[in-house]
Amino acid sequence: MYDFLDKVVLITGAARGIGFAIAESFAKAKATVLILDLNQEAIDTAVNRLIDLGGKAAGYMANVTNSKGIEELFARIIQEHGKIDALINNAGVTRDNLMLRMKEEEWDLVLNINLKGAFICSQKVFKHMMKARSGSIINIASVIGIMGNAGQANYAASKGGLIALTKSCAKEFASRNIRVNAVAPGFIETEMTATLSDEIRAEYAKVIPLNQMGSPLDVAKLCMFLASDESTYITGQTIAVDGGLTMH
Ligand SMILES: NC(=O)c1ccc[n+]([C@@H]2O[C@H](COP(=O)([O-])OP(=O)(O)OC[C@H]3O[C@@H](n4cnc5c(N)ncnc54)[C@H](O)[C@@H]3O)[C@@H](O)[C@H]2O)c1
Repeated sequence: MYDFLDKVVLITGAARGIGFAIAESFAKAKATVLILDLNQEAIDTAVNRLIDLGGKAAGYMANVTNSKGIEELFARIIQEHGKIDALINNAGVTRDNLMLRMKEEEWDLVLNINLKGAFICSQKVFKHMMKARSGSIINIASVIGIMGNAGQANYAASKGGLIALTKSCAKEFASRNIRVNAVAPGFIETEMTATLSDEIRAEYAKVIPLNQMGSPLDVAKLCMFLASDESTYITGQTIAVDGGLTMH
């Protein structure tokens, strides 16, 4: 449906899970897909899978929290690929604990990767997108950033912060024709949730109006829309992909 021929899409944390599903969808739509992740072996496997599908892909080992490393990497990507049309800030982690037991290290790690990582990547890519006077930045937030969740104060704060970052960047970048939106997935079937029992899965489904968990592809489809010319009048929005779990 979408055609991203000659478009360069950079996705953080894309060696597996939702990020990889997003990478796969863009690769099938002819984009040049750049995977950024922590582990070289996992990156190579992911890139090879995309190439086997007939896609154009390259991988880069980097940590989104390393400001200098990201700045140098983005400059290298511009040299190698000429531009970055879309950045998808997807890298994210959880370190769940109840407030009383949460260690400061658990707070710092989650805030650093989920929120500061997106700040760093957005700031560094903005430099290049503003020269091109076009671009789309998509932040993968979470319904937890909207609703909160017991045992996830750090994660909820990071994703709520990411939604606020999205709105501020959208306002700052709009005059350069750069759009910034957030996607808030609900319960999505990934390696992480595959281990859940049928019972727990049924419990989750009960609170979801559409009565089922989502797939990484559901998230990928929205990312493609937000990166495409079909959404040129949409910026600063947070769109939930959650089967109706959150409505506002
Ligand atoms: N799975 C869900 O149900 C769900 C729901 C809502 C939101 N999300 C969000 O979607 C995104 C992807 O989630 P997922 O379930 O695919 O997770 P995942 O753990 O399967 O994948 C995350 C990827 O990010 C990479 N990563 C972690 N820290 C990094 C860093 N510092 N620098 C670069 N890469 C790093 C990991 O190596 C991994 O490949 C996350 O931001 C998550 O918070 C997931």
